[in-house]
This record gives sequence, C-alpha cells and structure tokens, in this order.
Amino acid sequence: MMIPSHRYCFYSVITIYFFLLIHTLASPTVHFCRHDQRDALLEFRDEFPTSNNTWRSSWNKSSDCCFWEGVSCDDKAGQVISLDLYTSLNSSLKTNSSLFRLQYLRHLNLSNCFLQGEVPSSLGNLSHLTLVDLSWNKLVGKIPASIGNLNNLRNLSLAYNNLVGEIPSSLGNLSRLKSLELSNNGLVDEVPTSIGNLNELRVMSLDLNSLSGKIPISFVNITNLSYLNLAYNNFSSTLPSDMSGFHNLRYFDVGSNSFHGPFPKSLFSIPLLRSVILKQNQFTGPIEFKNISSSSKLWALNLDSNQFDGPIPESISKFLNLALLHLSHNNFTGPIPKSFSKLVNLDFLRLSNNKLEGEVPSWVWSLTAVTLSHNSFSSLENSSQETLIKGLDLSWNSFRGPFPLWICKLKWLRLLDLSNNLFSGPIPTCLRNLTVSLTELTLRNNNFSGTLPDIFSNATKLQSLDVSQNQLVGTFPKSLINCKALQFVNVESNKLKDKFPSWLGSLPSLNLLIFRSNKFYGTLYHDHMSIGFQSLRVIDISHNDLAGTLPPYYFSNWCEMTTLTEGNGQYMASLPAYSLIYQSVEIVNKGVETSFERIRQDFRAIDFSGNKIYGKIPQSISVLKELRLLNLSGNAFTSDIPRSLANLTSLEALDLSRNKLSGQIPQDLSKLSFLSYMNFSHNLLQGPVPRGTQFQRQKCSSFLDNPKLYGLEEICGENLVPNPKSQQQPKELSEKEEKKFNWVAAAIAYGPGVFCGLVIGHIFTSHYHEWFTEKFGRGKNT
Ligand SMILES: *[C@@H]1O[C@H](CO)[C@@H](O)[C@H](O)[C@H]1NC(C)=O
Ligand SMILES: *[C@@H]1O[C@H](CO)[C@@H](O)[C@H](O)[C@H]1NC(C)=O
Ligand SMILES: *[C@@H]1O[C@H](CO)[C@@H](O)[C@H](O)[C@H]1NC(C)=O
Ligand SMILES: *[C@@H]1O[C@H](CO)[C@@H](O)[C@H](O)[C@H]1NC(C)=O
Ligand SMILES: *[C@@H]1O[C@H](CO)[C@@H](O)[C@H](O)[C@H]1NC(C)=O
Ligand SMILES: *[C@@H]1O[C@H](CO)[C@@H](O)[C@H](O)[C@H]1NC(C)=O
Ligand SMILES: *[C@@H]1O[C@H](CO)[C@@H](O)[C@H](O)[C@H]1NC(C)=O
Ligand SMILES: *[C@@H]1O[C@H](CO)[C@@H](O)[C@H](O)[C@H]1NC(C)=O
Ligand SMILES: *[C@@H]1O[C@H](CO)[C@@H](O)[C@H](O)[C@H]1NC(C)=O
Ligand SMILES: *[C@@H]1O[C@H](CO)[C@@H](O)[C@H](O)[C@H]1NC(C)=O
Ligand SMILES: *[C@@H]1O[C@H](CO)[C@@H](O)[C@H](O)[C@H]1NC(C)=O
Ligand SMILES: *[C@@H]1O[C@H](CO)[C@@H](O)[C@H](O)[C@H]1NC(C)=O
Repeated sequence: MMIPSHRYCFYSVITIYFFLLIHTLASPTVHFCRHDQRDALLEFRDEFPTSNNTWRSSWNKSSDCCFWEGVSCDDKAGQVISLDLYTSLNSSLKTNSSLFRLQYLRHLNLSNCFLQGEVPSSLGNLSHLTLVDLSWNKLVGKIPASIGNLNNLRNLSLAYNNLVGEIPSSLGNLSRLKSLELSNNGLVDEVPTSIGNLNELRVMSLDLNSLSGKIPISFVNITNLSYLNLAYNNFSSTLPSDMSGFHNLRYFDVGSNSFHGPFPKSLFSIPLLRSVILKQNQFTGPIEFKNISSSSKLWALNLDSNQFDGPIPESISKFLNLALLHLSHNNFTGPIPKSFSKLVNLDFLRLSNNKLEGEVPSWVWSLTAVTLSHNSFSSLENSSQETLIKGLDLSWNSFRGPFPLWICKLKWLRLLDLSNNLFSGPIPTCLRNLTVSLTELTLRNNNFSGTLPDIFSNATKLQSLDVSQNQLVGTFPKSLINCKALQFVNVESNKLKDKFPSWLGSLPSLNLLIFRSNKFYGTLYHDHMSIGFQSLRVIDISHNDLAGTLPPYYFSNWCEMTTLTEGNGQYMASLPAYSLIYQSVEIVNKGVETSFERIRQDFRAIDFSGNKIYGKIPQSISVLKELRLLNLSGNAFTSDIPRSLANLTSLEALDLSRNKLSGQIPQDLSKLSFLSYMNFSHNLLQGPVPRGTQFQRQKCSSFLDNPKLYGLEEICGENLVPNPKSQQQPKELSEKEEKKFNWVAAAIAYGPGVFCGLVIGHIFTSHYHEWFTEKFGRGKNT
C-alpha cells in the first residue's frame, strides 16, 4: 500500500516534537555521566572479557553511561548509584576491581551473573551501599568481615552460592539491615550472638547450610522479624521458651534440624503467624495451644517426623484459616477430633504413621488430599456428596468389609490407595466413574475377590495399577490397552486365569510388569503382534502356566534394558501421585511405606521362572546390556546357554537352574565382573566349570545335578561326593534343609525397611534373598 508521503512526514514531525517537549519538561537537568565514573565502568566491563556481548557493546563511549544497560545515576551529580546487571559475567570479581571506584554506589545487584571466585573484601569500602544482592552465583570462600562496615545496608543476599566458614559476627553491626539472606551455602558453626542486634531485621533466611549449635537467645530482641527460615541445618537445641515477642512473625521454619524439647506453644499467640514448620526434628511430648484467637491467620502447620505424642487436640480447630496440617510420623493417639469439621479451609491433611484409631469422619472426603496410612483406623463414615478430593491414601489400616461404594462418587480422585487393609468382596464396576481422572489405583493386599472389572477404557491418565495379593479370578481386563500412560501394572498373587496379554507390549510407557503367581497361560509371544515393551525395566511373570517358545529376536525391542535413558519411568524413583499429594508443600520424604520408592533407578530385571517355556534361550537376550538380574529357572529351556550372555556386562544375578540346558557353561561368563550370584543346578550341562573369581565364590549347590560337569573341586571342597557314573558331584542338600533356610531368608527380606521392598522381594525368589541381603544389607538406602 502507498502511504501519502506528505501526511506521513507531517505526523512524524508532530510526534518527534511532542516527544522532545515531554522529555525536556520531565528532566530539566540533563544528567551527564561523570568521566571518572564512566571510566571505572568501562574498566569494569573489560574485567569480564568472556561475558555476554550484548551489554558489553551497549557500554560504549558514544552514549551517556547513565543510560547504559543496568546503570543508574544520581539525577544531579551524575554519580553512578546503581548497578543492576542481569547477565552472565562469567568470571570473578577481583579485590582491585574498578567496581570499587564507584564509591557512590547504593544498589549493587549482580544476582544470577555466573560470578565466580571469592566475595572481595573491598566490597566493605562502598559505604553508601544500601542493597547488595550477589545471590545465585558460584561464589566461594568466606563471607568477608568487612561487609560489617556497610552501615547503610538494608538488604543483603548472598544466598545460593558455595560460601563456607562461619557467619562473621561483624554482620551484627549492620544495624539498619532489613533482610539477611544466606540460604543454600556451606556455612558452619553457631550463628553469632551479634545477629540478635539486628533489630530492624524482617527477613532472615539461613536455611540449607550446615549451621549448628543453638539459636542465640538474643534473637528474641528481633521483634520485627516476619520471616525466619532455619530449615535444613544441624541446629541442636531447644527453641527459646518464650517467642511471643516476635509480634510480626508470619513464617517460622526450623524443619530438618535436630531441635528438641517440647512443643513451642508460645508461638501460637502471635496474631500474624501463617506458617509453622517443625518437621524432621526431635520435639517430644503432647501438643497444646492456648488462647487461640478466632482471627488467627495460621495457614500451614507441619509437625511431620518428630516424637510428639498424646491426642491431637480439639483446639486446632480454632485455626479457621488452616489449609495444611501435617502430623505424620509421630506417636499421636486416639481419634481424629470431631471439631475438625470446622476447618473449612483445610486442603491437605497428613496423619500417616501414628497410632490413630476409630472412624474417619466424612468431612475428610471434602479435602484436596488426605494421607491416613499406617494407623489403626477401622471404619469410614460414608460420604453423601460428590467432592473435589484428588488424593486419598488409606493404606495400612484396619479397614474391613466391602469396597466403600461412595468412593465412586469422588470423580476428581487421581490417587486412591486402599492397600494393606482387610477389604473384601468384589471390586465394583462403578469405579469406572473414577477412571477418567485416576492416575494411580492401589488395592494391594486385601481380600478382594471376583474379577478385576474391565472398566479402563477411559483411563487414559492411569499410570499405576496395583491389585496384587488379593483373591481375584477371571481374565485380565482388555480395556487396559487404552491406558497409554500406564507405567506400572502389578497383579501378583491372585488367581487370574487368562492368555498372556502380549498386547501390553504396545503400551509405550510400561516400566514394571508384575504378573507373578497367577494362572496366566499360553505363549508369551504371538506371531501377529509386534513385541514392543520398549520401556520395560522390570518384568516378573514367574510362577504361572506360560508355555511355548520364544523367537530369537524376542528381546530386540526392549530398549530400556538396552540403554539407560534419563527422565522416563518415575516409578523407579517414586510414585507420581505422592508428588500430587504434596505438590503444594515440599520435597517428599514418604519413608518406607512405598514399596517401589527405593528401587535403584538403574535396576533392570527379568524373571520368567516357574513356567513351562521351552526351546532355546533367545539370542537377542544379549542386547539387554543394562540387565541386572535374569531368572529363567524352572522352565524347560533346552540347547546351549547362548555364549552371547557374556555380553550382559551389567548382570549381577543369573539363575538358569531347573531347565534342560545342555552343552558347556560359556567360559566368557567369567568375565562378567558384577555377576555375583549364579545358579546352573539341575540341568544337563557338561564340561569344565569356568575358572575365575566370580565362579569360585559361588555356592557348591549352584552346580548341583549336572552329571557331566567337572572342575568343581575348588568351589565345593568337601561337599563333593564321588559319583560312580560320572564326575564327582556336589552333595544334595536335603529338601527340608533348603526350604527352611530359604524361608528364613525370605522372611527377612519381606520385613519392613527392606532395601527395595516388594519387587525385589519377589524377583528374588528364595535363593536370591540370602545373596541379596548379604550384598545390599537390610533397610539401607544405596
Ligand atoms: C546476552 O544477554 C541478552 C540480554 O541482555 C540475552 O537476550 C542474550 O540471550 C544473552 N546472550 C548470551 C549468549 O548469553
Ligand atoms: C553503543 O551503545 C549504544 C546503546 O547504548 C548502541 O546503540 C550502539 O550500537 C553501541 N555502539 C557500538 C559501537 O557498539
Ligand atoms: C565463560 O568463559 C569460558 C572461558 O573462560 C567460556 O568457555 C564460556 O563459553 C563462557 N560462558 C559464557 C556463558 O559466556
Ligand atoms: C588487579 O590486580 C591484578 C593482579 O592481582 C592485576 O593483574 C590487575 O591489572 C589489577 N587490576 C586493576 C584494575 O588494577
Ligand atoms: C536483583 O535482580 C534480580 C534480577 O533482576 C531480581 O530478581 C532481584 O529481585 C533483585 N534483588 C533485589 C534485592 O532487588
Ligand atoms: C578498601 O578496603 C581494603 C580492605 O577492606 C583496604 O585495604 C583498602 O585500603 C580500601 N581501599 C580504599 C580505596 O578505600
Ligand atoms: C529489602 O528487604 C525488605 C525486607 O525484606 C523488603 O521489604 C524490601 O523490598 C527490600 N528492598 C529491596 C530494594 O529489594
Ligand atoms: C535485648 O535488647 C536489650 C536492649 O537493647 C538488651 O538489654 C538485652 O540484653 C537484649 N537481650 C538479649 C537476650 O540479648
Ligand atoms: C513412639 O513410641 C514408642 C514407645 O511407645 C517409641 O518406641 C517410638 O520411638 C515412638 N516413635 C516416635 C516416632 O516417636
Ligand atoms: C456413575 O456415573 C453414572 C453416570 O454419570 C451415574 O449414573 C452413577 O450413579 C455413578 N455411580 C456412582 C456409584 O456414583
Ligand atoms: C468414556 O468417556 C466418554 C466421554 O467422556 C463417555 O461418553 C463414555 O461413556 C465413557 N465410556 C466409558 C466406558 O465409561
Ligand atoms: C556379543 O558377543 C559376541 C561375542 O561373544 C559378539 O560377536 C557379538 O557381536 C556381541 N553382540 C552384541 C549385540 O553386542
């Protein structure tokens, strides 16, 4: 389009005229940068040659330095008073940096600038500074004591660096300081008493350091304090007995330390108080509140993981603004107080791992997320209405009777965990009403009977389904084929009787598949199906009636066992729905109750044992380079052990016992340096047992009943008995002896605090337990 040039020109002239007019009126003193200031800035710029070029080129002599990016001047004198760069400086600040020639500087904000090296002590010379923010850099070394000279300083942040040493007591001279932020460094020892002199202080965050000892008594003089965060340090003392002097306190977090002593009830008379976090300390005794004002602002109370006991006091219900109440992992007793129904703003309630009992009242079903696991609750009050509840964990209690049908009305549920109770009767089809939103359904270890209903056609968000250890019969629900998000399926220890659903291989995210101890039959593999299982990490289909042969390429698409990928497969680390429950709060520490939580991220296992699979072990097994555990025992595999098994360089346990394998044990297996458990017993193997330390360490019984195997002298020693027909043979352990031993080992591994919990417990049938507990110990994290 043509623009009439004269009109265009006219408007432009007008615009420029007005712009100039306004500009001139607004700033009668046109300030020019003082040359000494400009030169100091230019030299400062040149101290960062590898920095981001955008700001560097804007700092040039052709424009007034007061207009350079990140620079502000005093209007009249042209002195640089503020430097606020948001860029990658990518180098250290030298003690003789030209920065320190900007002696009028009031604001220095170099947060997030990739600054390295130490905080130069000359910073203490810039006596006009009111604000210093060097947070989120890579600063090292100690906090220079000279910062204590900056007696105009109001805001100091050195948070999120790698600073070490003590907090210098000179900081107590900064009498005008309003905020002191030193979070997330490596600061140690006690907080200096002088900090208590900072009586203008509103914000003090010292969390995420290694500070220890006690909180200085002098802190009670900081009466303006509104935010105090000491979380994640090593403080070990009692809290001051009277904290009511903190009139302005809103946020109080001393979590994850070793504080002890009684419940700090003096805090709760502070009218503005919103959040109190005492979690993960060693506080003891009952909790009590006095004189709670109806206008209390308390919004969050987190007492998780202490040693509080006694009943949960009714008086909590006077905190009408309470949204988050966490009392897990204590020794609270008795029922949920009746008066809690008054807490109309409550969203998150966590009461797990206490000694609570009685009926769970129906108002609970209208919260957002509720965790009541590991208590002794015995009944549930019916809900009469639909609610918006998203997470409900009722596991490890004493609930009995039929599945509570009213749960089907809770259409927004994402997590439902009823595991480890005494529920019985059928799993109702009305659960279909929940499946649209459900991400996790856990009914493990109850007495549910009847079939697993085929209700999952709309369950597109379902990630985890666990109905293991019940009395379920019938077929495996075909509608699960629609659950493209499914990561984890566990139906172990039921009586499901169906052809093996090989279509599960098409589910793109499936990580863990546990079918152990059911009555699945037929072949694992169907000609017309692509095999898939690209994301599979752990498969346990042991102790079923599976038969048939496996084609040579059977394992070739099992990508997650071939190479480790990051990110995928949250089930290996934690259950996603628990992050839902705690989404508003903090990093989860759910403890031992989640069986799958502590499985090693790199754990890969195949257990096909106790079936009737026959034919050759597929050659393609050799691509599963990340496999840790392979159990094919108790089948009818024939022919040779593939030599390419020696390609499984991560293998730690291998059980091929009780098959019809013939030929020699491949000599190359002795090169698998992580392979510490093997079992070749009860086959038709022959020839020499490979030499090498891994083999020498095996139990003699691992080679039992292979009449033509020889070279067992070093492994078996005295347990070798002459065999008239063939080579010397290992002595048979009596059946009884073996069983007894296994049973004990199994019992240990199933107990609480086991290294890996359920999956491992089951993947490792009897024999493995001893090896496993020996190797990894009990109840220890890796
Ligand atoms: C340099 O900084 C500018 C903003 O000041 C930013 O847009 C650009 O991405 C940065 N470049 C590099 C290489 O960091
Ligand atoms: C100097 O900086 C100005 C902005 O401050 C910019 O427009 C100009 O391109 C820069 N000159 C050079 C040579 O980089
Ligand atoms: C930081 O400096 C190093 C050289 O010291 C350079 O290799 C790197 O690319 C720089 N990084 C940025 C973000 O400018
Ligand atoms: C700062 O000191 C170093 C030596 O420590 C020297 O190389 C550098 O030139 C000095 N810089 C300034 C701006 O004086
Ligand atoms: C410093 O600058 C960063 C980035 O612009 C900003 O987020 C931060 O709030 C500033 N610090 C202060 C204390 O104003
Ligand atoms: C800056 O401070 C250092 C030590 O903190 C001191 O040695 C030096 O003389 C001071 N420089 C100026 C210019 O004041
Ligand atoms: C300094 O800290 C106080 C207290 O946190 C805060 O209210 C104020 O906004 C901060 N000042 C600046 C300039 O960031
Ligand atoms: C609190 O401040 C007062 C007056 O400044 C002082 O006398 C007292 O010793 C301080 N208390 C503590 C515990 O430091
Ligand atoms: C609970 O009380 C028992 C004794 O009654 C004690 O052994 C246990 O350590 C306590 N647990 C907690 C978390 O305080
Ligand atoms: C399930 O949903 C259907 C259709 O929305 C409804 O008629 C039925 O009452 C619901 N069942 C339960 C138990 O809530
Ligand atoms: C699945 O959802 C659609 C719409 O959300 C609904 O019409 C249909 O009845 C649902 N199917 C089942 C089997 O629940
Ligand atoms: C496995 O090892 C054999 C030698 O035993 C080698 O020839 C073969 O290429 C390896 N296969 C894979 C998939 O790495």
